[in-house]
Amino acid sequence: MGDVAKGKTLFVRMCAMCHTANKDGRHKVGPNLFGIMGKTCGTSPGFSYTDSMKSKGVKWDESTMNEYLEFPRKFIPGTRMVFNGIKNPTDRRDIIAYLWSLK
Ligand code: HEC
Repeated sequence: MGDVAKGKTLFVRMCAMCHTANKDGRHKVGPNLFGIMGKTCGTSPGFSYTDSMKSKGVKWDESTMNEYLEFPRKFIPGTRMVFNGIKNPTDRRDIIAYLWSLK
């Protein structure tokens, strides 16, 4: 199991400049991520995604999120998320645990 508290710290450091994580949080450069786990990618109302993200059509679970966060532009070529990815598997696991906790 990932460490939610560590995941939150990592999220604040690496993701929060582009994403909010609170309920009904506003979209910034990236979409609000409250309740993102279990949803289909590219479907948050009011955010204008790239066609790449919309047509990917995956459900965000442990495995798809892990692949995305490791190398976003390899998993979804053409994504507008300008982020190089997280090389450390433990960091990815902790961030995913934090994302699951957002509900
Ligand atoms: C420089 C800004 C930026 C950073 C930093 C960033 N993102 Fe994003 N993110 C975006 C944008 C823009 C999109 C929409 C991409 C698209 O439409 O192709 C996105 C999309 C996403 C999605 C898909 C959302 C959905 O509704 O399907 C997830 C999940 C996500 N980001 C997670 C993260 C996480 C976790 C981090 C930190 C490890 C992070 N992002 C860092 C800009 C960013």
